Amino acid sequence: MKKIAIFASGAGSNAAKIIDHFRSHPNIKISLIVCNKPGAGVLDIAQKEGIPTLIIEKEIFFQGSAYLGELREKGVDFIVLAGFLWKIPSALVKAYPGRIINIHPALLPKYGGKGMYGRFVHEAVVEAKETETGITIHYVDELYDHGQVIFQERVPLSPEDTPGTVAQKVHRLEHLHFPKIIEAVVLANAPADDLPNQR
Ligand code: GRF
Repeated sequence: MKKIAIFASGAGSNAAKIIDHFRSHPNIKISLIVCNKPGAGVLDIAQKEGIPTLIIEKEIFFQGSAYLGELREKGVDFIVLAGFLWKIPSALVKAYPGRIINIHPALLPKYGGKGMYGRFVHEAVVEAKETETGITIHYVDELYDHGQVIFQERVPLSPEDTPGTVAQKVHRLEHLHFPKIIEAVVLANAPADDLPNQR
């Protein structure tokens, strides 16, 4: 069984879709929700689903230990970032090489980097009168929104679109694709003898 920790600090709509997708998966389990915001919606979802949570603190996260002990204790094999805003410290990137995946709500390399998250991304897209936007799922390295792209999907925009409607279009794409891409990446990375029940 491959174990995934979801790092999320927002409403958790992506986390909910991912949890749904893997609920009765024979080879992949969501075993931990990591969150830096007490009170975040994603924590309610975790509680309802009976998934353990870990609330992290900034100082410890960036100290170098990066909660590696806790992740190892839970047997975490992959980390999925779904609305997690802190940069991943190098200790964590090195401990999980090619095994940390992020979703960004735009077509990277456009509209990425520090400060480009959530509504700021969609506001910038509308401001620039883009005719399309989309999602990027990528591996995480030591730079913001920089690692190798795994998957992108586009959606057309019209002049009437607002940051709110763009956000809705992007969320729809995220919910549709993110769980399936995570599944493909995890299964592709797992040695065959680890997956006796592979579908
Ligand atoms: C998503 O749009 C994701 O791309 C971004 O943060 C948002 C999280 O939304 N990184 P939710 O908490 O999953 O609803």
